[in-house]
Amino acid sequence: MTLYFDHNATTPLDPRVLERMLPVFGATYANASSLHRTGRNARDVVERARAQVAALVGAPSQSVVFTSGGTEADNLALRGAMAAQPGRTLLIGATEHPAVLECAEAMERDGVKLERIPVDRDGRLDLAWLERRLQAGDVALVSVMLANNETGVINDIPLVADLVHAAGAWLHSDAVQAAGKHPIDWSDLGVDLLSLSSHKLYGPKGVGALVVGERAVLHRQMHGGGQESGLRGGTENVPAIVGFGAAAELAIEELAARRAHLQTLRDLLDAGLDQIPGVERFAAAATRLCNTTQFRLDGFDGESLLMALDQAGCAVSSGSACASGKGEPSHVLLAMGIPAEQAKGAIRVSLGMGNTAEDVQALLAELQRLNPATSRLMRSVSLSA
Ligand SMILES: Cc1ncc(COP(=O)(O)O)c(C=O)c1O
Repeated sequence: MTLYFDHNATTPLDPRVLERMLPVFGATYANASSLHRTGRNARDVVERARAQVAALVGAPSQSVVFTSGGTEADNLALRGAMAAQPGRTLLIGATEHPAVLECAEAMERDGVKLERIPVDRDGRLDLAWLERRLQAGDVALVSVMLANNETGVINDIPLVADLVHAAGAWLHSDAVQAAGKHPIDWSDLGVDLLSLSSHKLYGPKGVGALVVGERAVLHRQMHGGGQESGLRGGTENVPAIVGFGAAAELAIEELAARRAHLQTLRDLLDAGLDQIPGVERFAAAATRLCNTTQFRLDGFDGESLLMALDQAGCAVSSGSACASGKGEPSHVLLAMGIPAEQAKGAIRVSLGMGNTAEDVQALLAELQRLNPATSRLMRSVSLSA
């Protein structure tokens, strides 16, 4: 049996969500844009899901644009906003997910002016740098994630929003990792654009949303039948959208309980890691998501520790799922000023609702067993006994 500790990569589908999706695959087959009764039924369930997703972040229903996931939401935000303000500058956090980073770099190759906001050793944004940089008055859009997928670091988005709006720019925040694990209030955040993804909160894969505020005027990137207020052409994936809505509704109802469970397990994990010689936790001084810890263990690179843990039945990640397998140190840790050799050792544990205290103890015991420092110690104890 595998103990799954990779919930930031994806979460299992909640059986209650599946139950709500299954009838939609059968009966609700009509095109949600069709005018006949079966089409109107499909439209009704899509609009119900839109209200549920909007409620997850406290935004008006009509601001939710369904997409194929977090990646498309990020691409629509960046490309759509920058196309509406040509010639101006795009600022992104240095530790953004590849869905923002790679998109911004591709736009840079096409002529968009791009700069990265530096972070400190614990992954916190340099807000003084941002404030100074905004004074030039040439920035169109700032993109800063709410919570980092690798380290779990949470950014102070309301503060960033004040700075960005004072300079007349728009703010996009990738809330893909925060949603379902951290309270999100659209009016408190003060952002103009917010990305969400269903499969990070026990919903189906391949569906997400961009929440678009009144201030932001986007140029569409997917041309077609004018669906999603003209911002995202393409026939809606009704069962997936219904699943996303159901997952959002459950996340609202259970947020407090989920946070308490995850925080308890994460504290247990961190306390255990701190007892293991040779473990260094990253971003340890920053405010982090309640389920995420990233660390390294002396004597191991991340990939070999991941494989050793996998052999022992523990599924972890060596960074973001997209970066792992490349053998390169994580850009997040490099941006934090962690030397490449140490960054290569990174392991991410992201806990979920299926995990128990026993799972965490089993992972810690496995790390103790694999650790060259403790196994030397154990050998010398047994020799002297
Ligand atoms: C912070 C962040 N943004 C965006 C994405 C991409 O979301 P999706 O897999 O739905 O395209 C992910 C997924 O790992 C993520 O962690």
